[in-house]
Amino acid sequence: MNPSMFFAVFLLGIQLVSVSSAHYEPATYSREQQEVPASSYNNIYVPREQGEVPTTSSSTNYVPKEQQQVPSSSSYKNDYPEDHNDDQHQDSPHDDHDQTLEGVFTLTVPTFLSEYYAKKPSEDDHYSLSSYHYYQSCPEFEYIVSGKVKEWVGKDKTLAAALLRLHFHDCAVRGCDASILLNHEGSERTASPSKTLRGFEVIDDIKSELEKKCPREVSCADILTAAARDATVEAGGQYWTVDYGRKDGLVSDAKEAESLVPMGRESITDLIEFFQSLGLEVDDLVVLSGAHTIGKSSCESIQYRLFNYSETKSLDSTINPKYADYLQRKCRWATDNYVELDAETPTKFDNEYFVNLIYRKTGLLSTDQLLYSDQRTSNIVKTLATNDRSNTFYQQFKKSMKNLGNVRVLTGPNKGEIRANCNFVNPRY
Ligand code: HEM
Repeated sequence: MNPSMFFAVFLLGIQLVSVSSAHYEPATYSREQQEVPASSYNNIYVPREQGEVPTTSSSTNYVPKEQQQVPSSSSYKNDYPEDHNDDQHQDSPHDDHDQTLEGVFTLTVPTFLSEYYAKKPSEDDHYSLSSYHYYQSCPEFEYIVSGKVKEWVGKDKTLAAALLRLHFHDCAVRGCDASILLNHEGSERTASPSKTLRGFEVIDDIKSELEKKCPREVSCADILTAAARDATVEAGGQYWTVDYGRKDGLVSDAKEAESLVPMGRESITDLIEFFQSLGLEVDDLVVLSGAHTIGKSSCESIQYRLFNYSETKSLDSTINPKYADYLQRKCRWATDNYVELDAETPTKFDNEYFVNLIYRKTGLLSTDQLLYSDQRTSNIVKTLATNDRSNTFYQQFKKSMKNLGNVRVLTGPNKGEIRANCNFVNPRY
């Protein structure tokens, strides 16, 4: 090769390298790969892209919702319509919107591996969940679930919140294995944290329809997971794809639910530790608490905050005084009354729950309001309260719900079973 040809080849090489590096994009981060910045032990969450908490959330002057200006759509990376209909949600397993805001949070608290993740891999561990799981065995599965959820929630809107909560209570004890549905003496369902759980009839109805179409194929745990997603969509939240293949557990014990399921009087440390025991993180705790943007609490759960707070104070003074007055009137005599968890937009699945905590001090449960006063979680609350038509919250909620749905799932031929009736384990002959 003569010198001028060598030079030409050399130049071409340099150009190729710079073109390919200009198009290089880092692979999507997994949680484990996320960089823990130097500030990590200050527990400060920063949006990955901006490096600061959005102005609306850090501002101390609260602008009432009606006066808040909705910024133009161009300011958003993801401009999802607020109104959703089913047609818009027919995403394929390949079309997962969850990727788009990957890394809104920078994880800044140390991640502890729970015992669950630390365990040795078993022979069943290679059976993972998949969005194709029912592709052949029950292709109508999601269609049936979403149709039934639509039908029931259409008749009674409060069922959307009930179904979402049911899935959480299921996953909170023994993982997402439908143990909450087993209906026998001493089962989780009979424990005090389950006292006001509702929506069991919806799951039974879905299951009996599925047993007609594809008998013994679809687990109750998968039904609960899909129904929680569809209920969220019915309440105005966004769709996310769900992976399937959970098996149903054989055990359900009220004592476990009594000792594990949080009831609203815990400290943030307790909640963080509980979520970590499920393999979930601090951001999941805060984001998933945003489910309290819909639904109600019984007066019984909050009466102690209003009348019997401590030895010296009858009222929890962290509650907005006007709101406390309203709650006292509503809950003084009737323990069987219910109060909306989100006082501003109780039936709309939006981020107003977080705005309430910051600007109105109207967190109904003490565990709600504490999320803003505790420095480990307050910046996450601020980020989720961002005035972006709930988009930040929606994106994070999808991710955290997927994390919740993966908690200690039973998969593979040697674990659990597919129940014929969600209320009972299959007869052993
Ligand atoms: C972080 C810890 C949590 C605590 C301490 C907590 C506590 C509570 C309490 C005390 C109630 C009212 C029960 C009653 O008196 O009737 C409630 C309701 C509710 N919870 Fe939670 N919860 C937590 C997390 C979650 C999660 C992760 C979800 C879902 C992803 C969720 C969804 C709901 C919903 C939707 C309702 C309203 C249910 C209805 O209207 O029927 N909660 N929660």
